[in-house]
Amino acid sequence: MSVHIKAKKGEIAKTVLQPGDPLRAKYMAENFLEDVKLVSDTRNIFYFTGTYRGKEITVGASGMGIPSIGIYSYELFTEYEVDTIIRIGTCGAYTTDLKVFDMLNVESAASESTYAKFAWGIEGEVLKHQGSAYGLINDTAKEYSLPLVSTTIHTSDIFYHKDPGIPAVATKYNCSAVEMEAFALFANAQHLGKNAAAILTVSDVIPTGDQISADEREKALKQMIQLSLETALKLP
Ligand code: HPA
Repeated sequence: MSVHIKAKKGEIAKTVLQPGDPLRAKYMAENFLEDVKLVSDTRNIFYFTGTYRGKEITVGASGMGIPSIGIYSYELFTEYEVDTIIRIGTCGAYTTDLKVFDMLNVESAASESTYAKFAWGIEGEVLKHQGSAYGLINDTAKEYSLPLVSTTIHTSDIFYHKDPGIPAVATKYNCSAVEMEAFALFANAQHLGKNAAAILTVSDVIPTGDQISADEREKALKQMIQLSLETALKLP
């Protein structure tokens, strides 16, 4: 076990698919994996290990925000010898070029966060995806004719704020959308020499206020789950 995950060594697969929400992890495990076992429920942050078309895969939550994904991804990489983490999440679009349900493959994440600098001495406001997962996600989307936009996004520490404008770092790096985790995942993976990618579905378009409903979130999730599982089959 690690500080925040009670699975035994060997109970977590080399590839972890990581939504923010523990109940999404449960939904994925129950509907897409076989021979599923709940391997950790510490703090109700569920981790399940099972098989998809015979390959062992773990699905487990990151929680919300940089500190939370920073903790879970670090423990997975260092205590459980995980090679690849693919985040599966939602984002708000900054541009009306994107529509709700559009699916993004995060090439880079820009952030005002000091996480990468203070944790690992990594300077710079923009971090790239790490390793082969990003390219395999693009290949898999092509194979299944799933529309996917490769883009730079903004990882923010803030969900509620008084100024609805686009923050300077997002303008500087031409970020198409905002979420709250990818930058920390990429920082940990860069420091540790691991693979990390993020697939996001646009859940709201900030300039217009368009949003997907709670029911529709499940449909959006299915497309990302399928893409991430089929990609996982190609990973070592
Ligand atoms: N901000 C941050 N994260 C998000 C948003 C948002 O507007 N929408 C979905 N995830």
